[in-house]
Amino acid sequence: VAPLKVGIAGLGTVGAEVVRLIETQARVLAGRSGRGIRVVAVTARSKAKKRDIDLRGVEWVKDPVALATHPEVDCFVELMGGAGDPALSAVEAALDAGKSVVTANKALLAKHGIKLAKAAEKHGGALNFEAAVGAAIPVIKTLREGLAGTGIDRVYGILNGTCNYILTRMEQEGLSFAECLKDAQRLGYAEADPSFDVDGHDTAQKLAILASLAFGTKVAQSAVYVEGISSIAPEDLRAAADLGYRVKLLGVAVRTAKGIEQRVHPTMVPKTSSIAQVMGVTNAVTIDGEGIPPITLVGPGAGGAATASAVVADIADVARGIRANPFGRPIAQLRDTTKAPMERH
Ligand code: NDP
Ligand code: HSE
Repeated sequence: VAPLKVGIAGLGTVGAEVVRLIETQARVLAGRSGRGIRVVAVTARSKAKKRDIDLRGVEWVKDPVALATHPEVDCFVELMGGAGDPALSAVEAALDAGKSVVTANKALLAKHGIKLAKAAEKHGGALNFEAAVGAAIPVIKTLREGLAGTGIDRVYGILNGTCNYILTRMEQEGLSFAECLKDAQRLGYAEADPSFDVDGHDTAQKLAILASLAFGTKVAQSAVYVEGISSIAPEDLRAAADLGYRVKLLGVAVRTAKGIEQRVHPTMVPKTSSIAQVMGVTNAVTIDGEGIPPITLVGPGAGGAATASAVVADIADVARGIRANPFGRPIAQLRDTTKAPMERH
């Protein structure tokens, strides 16, 4: 069987790790996918930058859209970030050309997910984005496949590694917000513009994606109420601790009689609760399903290796020929978040 030929746009924290993982796990991936996976072409902003990855024999294509539509590329992997161009036009071009796309870009999906899923549906390519929420935690697959037959009432959790890392170090070490954010950036956890993390928008984008999968609604970041953590100081965390609480940035999506309520805000949680034990860059997502006890998934929520693990699993799915509806159902069946009354769906 011919190998799956992959084009990667973006060779930063995540992209470089994806290149490494495809190389180091080549045998395992070939065994699991039934065929090899080969990186044939790449792009980034700077060709000259030193990256500590082996790109011998890999074509450099200057323009992300040209890479996305390159005749040699079967699967386009978008790891540049941002909700606008070039990520949007490149992903659209790849899908319109009938290629499969793998992306970790929650900003793009929360804004243009429905349009992109329509293109995937129309032209037959896959649109996989496991890494977009919870990095290495397989939460997209859990909602889309594992719980396909279960009505969901609520999905909530800690969805931003940077914020949880900052809150943890501020509480445990008394460090300032600015110092902790700097370390999160150095470790590759934060977004290119870290205000997306600390102002809650990254959590809102992830929540909108989870809500769509959980409730059969159209993904819409604009439907999410958002408050971040940038005004929290170490003394606020100490005051919460004196009362027996810890502060966590939570994303909560819940089915109500009026529609799907989606909100992101700092929350005081009892120190003895399981969510209070989730520290550092770790994420946790709890899913309340009809007739079953809550399911909680916990794991590394950011960082190159954790994110690359999910990206490569998505590429392996493409190699195996697995193609799911991106948001769990045909686009025509997705409903508005505000449509009332909202039955289990
Ligand atoms: P980085 O900033 O580390 O890397 C971005 C890469 O994209 C760089 O290689 C950069 O090129 C390239 N790039 C940026 N703009 C352009 C452009 N206009 N044209 C061509 N190439 C471009 O980001 P990350 O790797 O951290 O994140 C990538 C994606 O993964 C984002 O969507 C992010 O939200 C998502 N993500 C990140 C996680 C993480 O923990 N870091 C976790 C989950 C998802 P150059 O290197 O030359 O500057
Ligand atoms: N900036 C994001 C975070 C990356 O800190 O959670 C993972 O999506």
